[in-house]
Amino acid sequence: MTHAHVTSWFLAVVLFVIAYMLYKKGDQKKSKIFHMIARLMYLLIIATGGKMLFDYLTDPTIVNRGPLIIKMILGLSVIGLMEIILVQKKRGVTKLRNWAFFWITFLLTLYYGWNVL
Ligand code: HEM
Repeated sequence: MTHAHVTSWFLAVVLFVIAYMLYKKGDQKKSKIFHMIARLMYLLIIATGGKMLFDYLTDPTIVNRGPLIIKMILGLSVIGLMEIILVQKKRGVTKLRNWAFFWITFLLTLYYGWNVL
C-alpha cells in the first residue's frame, strides 16, 4: 500500500508539472488531458493514504495519532494547492503565494511521511 501511495503522489506531481507547462504554453487541449489524469491520481493518493490511515487509527497498539492526522492534513493541502495552481494557470493567473505554500506543504509532507511517521 505504501508503494502504491508513493507511486500515485509521484505521478500526480509529474502530471501536475506537465499540465502546468502546457497551460503556460496555451495548449488547452493537451493540458486538459494531463490535468484530468492528475485528478485521477489525486483520488488514488486519497484512497491509498486513507486506507493506511484507517488501518493505523483502528490499530490499538498505536498511541500517538497526532502526526498521522497532521500528515493527512498536509497531504490534502498539497493536493488542494496543485488543483488551485492549475485552475488559476488555466485562467492565465500566476500567484507566487500559492507556489510558496505548495513548496512549504509539499516538503513538510515528505518530512512527515519519511522522518516523523
Ligand atoms: C500529494 C500528497 C501526499 C504526499 C506527497 C504524501 C507523501 C507520503 C510519503 C513520502 C509517505 C511515506 C512513505 C514511506 O514510508 O516510504 C507517506 C505515507 C503515508 N501517507 Fe501520504 N502523502 C500525500 C497524501 C496523503 C493523504 C491525502 C493521506 C491521507 C488521507 C496520506 C496518508 C498517509 C499515511 C497514513 C501514510 C503511512 C505512514 C507510514 O506508514 O509510515 N497521505 N505519504
